[in-house]
Amino acid sequence: MSRSDGPLPPGSVIGILGGGQLGRMLALAAARLGMKTHIYCPDPQSPAFDVTPRKTVADYDDEPSLAAFAAAVDVVTYEFENVPAAAAAFLAKRKPLRPGANALAVAQDRLAEKAFLTINRIPVAPFAAIPDAGVLASELREIGLPAVLKTTRLGYDGKGQRTIRKRSDAAAAFAALAPKPLVLEAFVAFEKEISVVVARGLDGKTAAFEPAENTHRDHILKESRVPARVSSKTASKAVETATAIAKALDYVGVLGVEFFLSKRGKLLVNEIAPRVHNSGHWTEAVSITDQFEQHIRAICGWPLGDPSRLADVVMENLIGDEVLAVPQALKRRSRPQLYGKAESRPGRKMGHVNRIGAKTGPK
Ligand SMILES: Nc1ncnc2c1ncn2[C@@H]1O[C@H](COP(=O)(O)OP(=O)(O)O)[C@@H](O)[C@H]1O
Ligand SMILES: [Mg+2]
Repeated sequence: MSRSDGPLPPGSVIGILGGGQLGRMLALAAARLGMKTHIYCPDPQSPAFDVTPRKTVADYDDEPSLAAFAAAVDVVTYEFENVPAAAAAFLAKRKPLRPGANALAVAQDRLAEKAFLTINRIPVAPFAAIPDAGVLASELREIGLPAVLKTTRLGYDGKGQRTIRKRSDAAAAFAALAPKPLVLEAFVAFEKEISVVVARGLDGKTAAFEPAENTHRDHILKESRVPARVSSKTASKAVETATAIAKALDYVGVLGVEFFLSKRGKLLVNEIAPRVHNSGHWTEAVSITDQFEQHIRAICGWPLGDPSRLADVVMENLIGDEVLAVPQALKRRSRPQLYGKAESRPGRKMGHVNRIGAKTGPK
């Protein structure tokens, strides 16, 4: 199907790579639009399998399974950025892959991402590629302390990164992460972290949700609050930047952009996620169109929905055993979403609750 083709009709099959909670919530949204989902994931215990009519349990390098999956779906999307490039290319030859392989390549590698942002004149923290301990020592002099050493790929929830506060920390940080390709970033003494979830349709139209103000605990997102307590100028700049990134990637679908807001009021992009984003879960409680429906609309070539917000909201992630308190602790104006994971482990995202505040007019 080319871009000039019309929207996928209800009853079409959406292939989703990845069976975590994001895939699960995408499948629920797709079902509401009359779409079928087919979820592909190597883990038979995937939470998304509970809510999809069709599934494949296979590895991402299993070509016969990938070929059968491609033949069974009308469009392919993904819920995580670590889809191997070879699997993405294999599927993209057979069915429309949205977002495309280029967006995936940029977002799954921190160096490619920073290079892409820099080329597009979007500010990021000073950074350098780190091939060996010698370069790390010289770049620490250049970039200064503290700094954060990260693997270029496969990091999440703070995994694959070490903060270097003094010169003598460098060797241990390098030893812990090497021989994986590494990037060093200046530590940003941020005032706040905010994020924007933006959607871009097949027709190139965009719709952004308002920025969320995010707080992390142990490097894991704990809370997203909307409206973010930032100036309207900062909020517009964040939306403008996220929209510019979506355009520059010729993006189709929903994209998450994480920012640091410096004490001087400057926005730096921390990272981008080519998918629905944890800091956009608030939209399901208080937005006319939520991020999951918006993503399905975009990849199916449907017109985007209105991202306006109807009430103030705080989204709280339920991590580990916090999920167990939900039945008793639930308040009247809270909307829970539990992911149905069999086992709660420390640091594992088990669900979230949206606490709905005062009504506000759509913006
Ligand atoms: N350069 C940095 N300066 C300050 N804080 C950072 C920096 N990099 C990461 N962090 C903190 O760690 C969190 C997770 O890092 P991030 O790069 O977003 O990786 P991921 O979300 O993939 O684990 C960030 O949201 C932020 O709170
Ligand atoms: Mg992050």
